[in-house]
Amino acid sequence: MKIGLLGHGVVGRGVTEIIDGHFPQITVSSILVKDLSEGNDPRYTTDAYQILNDPRIDIVIECMGGIEPAFTYVKTALENGKHAVTSNKKMLSHHLKELTDTAEANHRSLRFEASCGGCIPWIHELERTQRIDEITSFRGIMNGTTNYILSDMTGSGADFNETLKEAQKLGYAEADPSDDIDGNDVAYKCCISAFSAFHKAVDPDDIPHFGIRHLKKSDIAYAKADGRVIKLIGRGCLNEEKLSVWVMPVMLRGDDPMCLVSSNLNRIELSCRTLGTASFGGQGAGSLPTAHAVVQDVLSIEDSGIPKTWETSDNHIETVRGTYYVSGRDLSLFEPVSAECHDGWVLTHEMSLQELSALMQNSHDVFVCEVSR
Ligand SMILES: NC(=O)c1ccc[n+]([C@@H]2O[C@H](COP(=O)([O-])OP(=O)(O)OC[C@H]3O[C@@H](n4cnc5c(N)ncnc54)[C@H](OP(=O)(O)O)[C@@H]3O)[C@@H](O)[C@H]2O)c1
Repeated sequence: MKIGLLGHGVVGRGVTEIIDGHFPQITVSSILVKDLSEGNDPRYTTDAYQILNDPRIDIVIECMGGIEPAFTYVKTALENGKHAVTSNKKMLSHHLKELTDTAEANHRSLRFEASCGGCIPWIHELERTQRIDEITSFRGIMNGTTNYILSDMTGSGADFNETLKEAQKLGYAEADPSDDIDGNDVAYKCCISAFSAFHKAVDPDDIPHFGIRHLKKSDIAYAKADGRVIKLIGRGCLNEEKLSVWVMPVMLRGDDPMCLVSSNLNRIELSCRTLGTASFGGQGAGSLPTAHAVVQDVLSIEDSGIPKTWETSDNHIETVRGTYYVSGRDLSLFEPVSAECHDGWVLTHEMSLQELSALMQNSHDVFVCEVSR
């Protein structure tokens, strides 16, 4: 399996790191860069068509960013009989229909897991869910930069500009953060999610998106006083064949699980009749998390990436440690390992699960429960 890689920045370098290090059966044979002086990798080329016209290349991975020439290159790759994988949400959201049609016409795969939610297998889950049921809606925290800013402002009481600067220092926000803080980035992801969930292509420019550029400390304080937390939420739903997609900050009730999504993490939920609601979370960006999703797409296309072998294994419960609440009538066996003994219940010292299992084997009518830290 030979890969041509377009772009060797944050995501592209993650892709070569994973593939070069782990998959001898997959070769990244050429890498498109703007300037050969970017490094001394013998695979570098500045001629995109050397990759796009190379009959030995099976899959083209695009992680250059921007709409053009990324769109033309991905389309050409598909027309030339190559599978395509892209992490480029902006380009994809503007050309989803055309690219999926081109892929279908040429009997090739177009995959884009990394374009939404970084390492979270979100597109995969949207596709998998539809084997059984129709998705009715999705909602999520889909932008790590804004979630970092909101979490930090909520936690520390800092103001927006201060927090944005900190996010830029940590590499969570770009020098020009407009796409993130104005909600465009989430709009692109909602567009792609809606396409995958509902098979409807909506123009990303038609998605209302309200960001957090003008958020003040006092807005956070207002939400807090009401037991609420502000998060930037992208949503899509299908009601009687009518699709609605939108992005806006929401004052979530304090008991909404989305409130617990901290720092630059992402969390996205889908809903359907049979499943109820299922959530998926993780790193929404970053070199290796995003590259992980790209390489997963490559493996899905290749479908022989991971050897399907198995071996028997011992269950190493001696390595699992915890403290345990144990209740029952006769707890004498547990007294030597207990930190607290009460009438009818004890709390153990930290111990191994193996030790606990041995004690449980010799106990009767006892309830045990791990006490999470
Ligand atoms: N970074 C993330 O965590 C993340 C997560 C999810 C999705 N994505 C998406 O993945 C894509 C890539 O992101 P990234 O963070 O890797 O960007 P990046 O660090 O800027 O890397 C892009 C690379 O492609 C090069 N490039 C751009 N146009 C080119 C052209 N015409 N010919 C040759 N090389 C070209 C850039 O060169 P120059 O720097 O010289 O322009 C740069 O080296 C974007 O669409 C982004 O939205 C990124």
